[in-house]
Amino acid sequence: MPKNRTRVEPFRSGISELSVTARVLILVEAPWLGKHGRNAVSKRKIILDCDPGHDDAVAILLALASPEEIDLLGITCVAGNVPLELTRNNALKVCELAGHTDVAVYSGCARPMVRELNTAENVHGESGLNLPGDSVLPEPSMTLRSQHAVDYIIETLTAEDTGSITLCPIGPLTNIAVAMIQAPEIVPRIREIVLMGGAAINPGNVTPVAEFNIYVDPHAAHVVFSSGVPLVMMGLDVTHQVLVTAERIDALRTTGGQVSSTVADLMTFYCRFDLDKYRMEGGPLHDPCVIAYLIDSTLFDLKHVNVEIETNADLTLGQTVADWWTVTDRTPNCHVAHQADDTRFFEVLNERLARLP
Ligand code: BDR
Ligand code: CA
Repeated sequence: MPKNRTRVEPFRSGISELSVTARVLILVEAPWLGKHGRNAVSKRKIILDCDPGHDDAVAILLALASPEEIDLLGITCVAGNVPLELTRNNALKVCELAGHTDVAVYSGCARPMVRELNTAENVHGESGLNLPGDSVLPEPSMTLRSQHAVDYIIETLTAEDTGSITLCPIGPLTNIAVAMIQAPEIVPRIREIVLMGGAAINPGNVTPVAEFNIYVDPHAAHVVFSSGVPLVMMGLDVTHQVLVTAERIDALRTTGGQVSSTVADLMTFYCRFDLDKYRMEGGPLHDPCVIAYLIDSTLFDLKHVNVEIETNADLTLGQTVADWWTVTDRTPNCHVAHQADDTRFFEVLNERLARLP
């Protein structure tokens, strides 16, 4: 990876050019930006919207292991990798594995807004979280909260200060879009959406051009990408640089405790698909990129571009059409991650997971 990388972040870099008074005002009004305009300075309140899923499980664990940077308000579940009954149960299993039985977990939408649900048992196994030998994690004793995930998202954004909550979707965007449609007044209250999904300059992983989370619910993705909320997109452009190799699985197994070694087992099952199908040297650890960005945004390089979602065409349904070279006059709406420091990413991941039991 190039050492002297140029960070292309017009929104953030513009802050350093402001007058002292303006900067003081920004810090009062938007304290999360910090004195350098970086957004990894203060602890973020997040709602993690997920469809566990092996990489979702690692994202949940990484968030739970990072209380300095992340205040995990709640986990909301959506249908995606496997049906909702399984994703929500898997979220409970993962919290329990980490010894965090106090986490509030909510069940959300059971299908995409318009299309039938497409799932990914071929990657994640029948349970969504299979272990080698097709064994599974123990059933949880924790239970789901009774409130619907969409109502929880709306209620939380309404109750907390404007600009204080970051949404972190790492599955199809159905819950987030339905919340925006049901209660449009929450949209300007969202600080930022940092999501895993899409592919700006990388090919797709479920069609030649579409990434799974966006393809499963392109209509929801359209709602989110056209909402005006500041977006950070961790797509295949970076997640395919963050590969769980055999050596990295060994390192997990040797550096941490029970959680790290269970993650090593989960990764052993998960990676077999990408090793076989793509002949990659390891499986891409998609979803934890969202949490890693919140922990240390310098792990990634981003470019602010316009991204629109294809919802009409058969061949390109679910494509994140990114205007990478500004060949249109569409307004940039998304900070797209395009370069990851994978070595530092795995150092952070190992260190954090080793904090768990
Ligand atoms: C995304 O699809 C799912 O299978 C993963 O959990 C990740 O969120 C990657 O395309
Ligand atoms: Ca996911």
